[in-house]
Amino acid sequence: MPGALRGRFITFEGVDGAGKSTQIDAIAQALQQRGIDLVRTREPGGTALGEALRSVMLAQAMDPLTETLLMFAARREHVLSVIEPALASARWVLCDRFTDASYAYQGAGRGVAAAHLDALANWVHHGLTPDLTVLVDIDPALGQLRRARVRVSDRFETEAAGFFEKVRSAYLARAAAEGPRFLVVDGSGTASAVTATILQRLAPWLP
Ligand code: TYD
Repeated sequence: MPGALRGRFITFEGVDGAGKSTQIDAIAQALQQRGIDLVRTREPGGTALGEALRSVMLAQAMDPLTETLLMFAARREHVLSVIEPALASARWVLCDRFTDASYAYQGAGRGVAAAHLDALANWVHHGLTPDLTVLVDIDPALGQLRRARVRVSDRFETEAAGFFEKVRSAYLARAAAEGPRFLVVDGSGTASAVTATILQRLAPWLP
């Protein structure tokens, strides 16, 4: 028998308001209809400790390196107690943000050195990289308009427009540098068009 079956690890990224959550809902539903056993989760969060850290991080001002360390502390718990066990038991994991968000937000947005992020990523989840990262790309101004319609802003979402421009550029640069791991989709289209593009990319993996 070939190596043990492992689930697929798919992450979703984009500036706030890009429409990631809508896409994760739609993709989870489509995959489940095809009989795929999956876990839907998010970062920061996904565990009791991670969700507690998330509440602090989304509300409380802090030094950028402190913020980075808390992101990775939450990630460590998440990888060990949710992501790895699910993948090992052949379940797929759909995760709303992962380490690419730390490069985009803490790295490009807040100025934390890439060398620190590389070291933390290597320390916290060495050997674990998403099989696919869906980058839902939109103009941050459109993201802000969409967000304003549906919710009160958290600490990240109250950043100035320039912050989100940096975040967006960092995501696009990572996608360009890493190539096949990323699927960049234009998030300004209709939700169903975005879902169809993602499903097309997943088709070869489906039973
Ligand atoms: P998200 O779940 O996308 O927010 P919402 O549920 O409000 O749509 O993410 C919460 C915030 O956390 C988001 O503004 C980006 C930030 N974040 C980082 O700054 N670094 C990270 O590594 C992660 C995972 C998230």
